[in-house]
Amino acid sequence: MEFPSLPENVAFARVAVASFASQLDFTIHDIEEIKVAVSEAVANAIVHGYGNSRGGLIRVCLKLTDEALEIQVEDHGKGIEDVKKALEPTYSTDPERMGLGFVFMQAFMDYLHVDSAPGKGTRVTMVKNVPRGAAAAASEKH
Ligand SMILES: Nc1ncnc2c1ncn2[C@@H]1O[C@H](COP(=O)(O)OP(=O)(O)O)[C@@H](O)[C@H]1O
Ligand SMILES: [Mg+2]
Repeated sequence: MEFPSLPENVAFARVAVASFASQLDFTIHDIEEIKVAVSEAVANAIVHGYGNSRGGLIRVCLKLTDEALEIQVEDHGKGIEDVKKALEPTYSTDPERMGLGFVFMQAFMDYLHVDSAPGKGTRVTMVKNVPRGAAAAASEKH
């Protein structure tokens, strides 16, 4: 899905991804974690990528398999100079912020990768594995 960089779209993306994710055998706790990770990534695109301007486009791509959910959040905003540094806990280019967004994404998802180029934009890829027991039980049903 693709939507403009409006602050209210953080909640929209969170709910849309959660309803998509609910097709898999995630626990309610997993879904809450996915919602936090998506909120953080989309908020970053709006706040940092597009500097809170409303004219940017954000694309969220979701891929679903029996084992995992892959989420990509992409913007064509200003990009990140130093991705390694951006991923460090409490690092933020905005002194008003806590610099914990990527920490949450890393803690709540099983895989996080950030592709970014200054002036071009940022793509955050996250994967959440379905709990093993649940996936096995589901495949036995078929
Ligand atoms: N989509 C993005 N576009 C540009 N810069 C970003 C983006 N996402 C994150 N960043 C950079 O990475 C830093 C760390 O992000 P994060 O951990 O979410 O902390 P915070 O949002 O509190 O600053 C941000 O301060 C910003 O400089
Ligand atoms: Mg953030």
